[in-house]
Order: sequence, then structure tokens, then C-alpha cells
Amino acid sequence: MKREIIAGNWKMNCTKAETVELIEKLLPLVGDPGKMEVVICVPFTNIDAARKALRGHKGIKLGAQNVHWAPKGAFTGEISADMLKSLKVKYVIIGHSERRQYFGETDESVNARLKAAVAAGLKAIVCVGETLEEREAGRTREVLLRQTSAAFEGIDKSALKQIVVAYEPVWAIGTGKTATPKEANTAAFVIRKALRKQYGRTPAHAMRVQYGGSMNASNVKELMAMPQIDGGLIGGASLKPEEFAKIVHYDEL
Ligand code: 13P
Repeated sequence: MKREIIAGNWKMNCTKAETVELIEKLLPLVGDPGKMEVVICVPFTNIDAARKALRGHKGIKLGAQNVHWAPKGAFTGEISADMLKSLKVKYVIIGHSERRQYFGETDESVNARLKAAVAAGLKAIVCVGETLEEREAGRTREVLLRQTSAAFEGIDKSALKQIVVAYEPVWAIGTGKTATPKEANTAAFVIRKALRKQYGRTPAHAMRVQYGGSMNASNVKELMAMPQIDGGLIGGASLKPEEFAKIVHYDEL
């Protein structure tokens, strides 16, 4: 049985004070997450405040939303893996569709960032997913296979335990539209197919695939019931403590 993982992607939300406030509300609501792995990925500027607010609470891990591929140098505005490590960050999101859409992130840069993250000992949440246009053109499968294979190019089998893949259909992000459980399951199966081709059946099967895109307390249960789905990457609902805690404890809903 794989350990399920619920991660909150706070995106570009919350000041430092709001971060502390949100975490202080969240901690008693989440309580003991049991077997569930729980991560919150906050903006870079709030990492240190989040770390302090989470101190003493073992249940929630700290994540960032991006990492640069170079160890250091002339890359204005970027953050290295070692910088994240020095703030006790455990997880980092890589290749989110908003990065791909608005900031020129490519399959190649996603791959470079992933290599840097795993080499530094960070855990990575690698995002893949088709746009509405691609889905309507019947290209979902092709896009998922391409994005997954490209992201993992040159990644050693031994690093797979550090990586989670998030299937996030772009058309479902922040839109209130969710992929049906069946659609999400099929997509996760395709992602595993790409992993299987590169690493073989057992390692591909052992990897965790999350679903992301308007996941909330009302749809988490049916999505998590799908055999190919091992977790969720939550945007909007991760900023609502009650809702996020319900998602974490979805088995009690
Ligand atoms: P929403 O849950 O707001 O749709 O965002 C999903 C997402 O992009 C998580 O990374």
C-alpha cells in the first residue's frame, strides 16, 4: 500500500502574517494526519515564517513552488535547491502549468529543475497535464506521455522515491471544473505507462501520482478511490483551513 499524499499549493497568496495565521488555524484542524503525508507549498518569502509556525508539529511538511537548475550564479530572481534546503524545505513543485503557461517553462527546463532538486536531496512534485485545446484535439495521451518522459529524462531509478507526479489538467485548475474520477484515473495510467517504459513495471507502479485541479472536500473521496490516484495537489481549497483539513481526513467524510 502506497502512502497517500495531500499537498497544498498556495500559489502567490498570503503575506508573512497571513501565512502564520493560516498555519495556526490549520494545525489543530489537521491534528494527527495519520498515515497521510501532508505538505504545504508556500511562496519563497513565507518559507521561513511557515517553518517557524510549523515547528513542533510533525504532521505537515514544508514545500516550495519552484527551484532553479543551477547551484548558484547570475540568475536574477531565481532560487537554488541549496537555498531551499537551508530553510528546511522538504518538497518542491516543479513544472506547474502556470509556470509553463506564463513563465516560459518547457519540458527541458522542467527536466533540468528536477535533476537539480533530486541531486540536492529534495523531494519533487512534478506537474504534467493537458490544456483544454489539447484535450479537445484528442491529444491528451500524447501530451502526458511526452511531458512525463521529458521530465524524467536522465533521472536515475534510484531517485524515483524522491518524486511524485501530479496530473493537473490545465482546464480544471481554478475553474471549478474537475476531471471525472475516470478521466483522472485514465490520465494517471498514461503517466505510469511513460514511467513503465523508462523504468519497468515495479518502479512505475510504486510511484505516487496525485490529481490536481479544483479538488475539494466534495470530490476528494471519489477521486482518491481511483486505483491510479495516490493523492491530491490542492490550490484554492488549500487556503481554506477547514476545507484543507477535510481533504486530508477525507476517509472520515
Ligand atoms: P485549484 O485547486 O485551485 O484548481 O488549483 C490546482 C492547482 O493548480 C494545484 O497546483
